[in-house]
Amino acid sequence: MTLTAYNNVSIPSFMYGTAWKKEATSKLVQSAVALGFKAIDTANQLIHYEEARVGEALLALGEKGTRRESLFLQTKFTPVNGQDHRTPYDASADLTTQVKQSFASSLTHLHTDYLDSYVLHGPYSRQGLGKEDREVWAAMEDFYESGKTKMIGISNVTAEQLRLLCEGAKHKPMAVQNRCFAVTGWDQEVRAICRAQGIIYQGFSLLTANGTVLADPAIRAIAKRLGAGIAQVVFRFAMQIGMLPLTGTTNPQHMKEDLQSESFELSPEEILHIETIAL
Ligand SMILES: NC(=O)c1ccc[n+]([C@@H]2O[C@H](COP(=O)([O-])OP(=O)(O)OC[C@H]3O[C@@H](n4cnc5c(N)ncnc54)[C@H](OP(=O)(O)O)[C@@H]3O)[C@@H](O)[C@H]2O)c1
Repeated sequence: MTLTAYNNVSIPSFMYGTAWKKEATSKLVQSAVALGFKAIDTANQLIHYEEARVGEALLALGEKGTRRESLFLQTKFTPVNGQDHRTPYDASADLTTQVKQSFASSLTHLHTDYLDSYVLHGPYSRQGLGKEDREVWAAMEDFYESGKTKMIGISNVTAEQLRLLCEGAKHKPMAVQNRCFAVTGWDQEVRAICRAQGIIYQGFSLLTANGTVLADPAIRAIAKRLGAGIAQVVFRFAMQIGMLPLTGTTNPQHMKEDLQSESFELSPEEILHIETIAL
């Protein structure tokens, strides 16, 4: 299954996230792809991600016959406030140069000459968008226009910031990636904008951000009815409301279970219950 953005580029409907995997990153990415994941998320940000180890996995997979074009690779430009001293660009350079250097370094790490999706890790300002955000976005738009990335996206955005970006940009984002909390109706305001604009909404930390909600007896009852696990119910729920979920599992058995969630079907009543569970 795939989801298609307004520019007609499609993303596989489930994504494997590589944050916090450290030296296990390469082995886990290889397992994820061998088990069936077709989309991989990383970032050029050594605090949380090992992009070069994702690249090592891609080389190893390539040797076993996995073609680059069969995978969807997404990485991110992380502004200096999200980096430590290992910033993958000259932090004293102007922002356009920073994006160019970070992008080039991502291509080197990932052993590829194009990306499927390039994401701004987060706006510079907490509220609204500033001139830094617009300059970085313009640099990303250049990569999109040159065909070096098939999509551009933004992460950790509020509804207000997304609205502003859609209004002011030459190319509005094709993807949004946000932490998804049940208490906000699973980011309902941002998802509504995405739906209206043809932007693919990617939800992360669906499990870790919603611990207490997932202990709800009704969710357990749905899992029992389907003969599924709680994680499978949550991921399938996410897909049925039009979201592209990320899983961050480090366990190959859980990778298999997470992928199997595509085969379950929740009823409209069950979907409504989960969607409004914490409102
Ligand atoms: N843009 C951003 O700022 C940002 C921030 C954070 C994350 N992300 C992206 O989102 C990805 C996912 O984030 P996340 O790791 O917080 O997501 P997550 O999938 O909600 O959390 C991972 C946790 O869920 C458990 N899990 C997964 N499948 C399971 C299953 N079938 N049964 C039981 N437990 C299961 C994992 O345990 P096991 O390891 O034991 O399976 C792990 O403890 C990251 O890797 C990253 O790519 C992006």
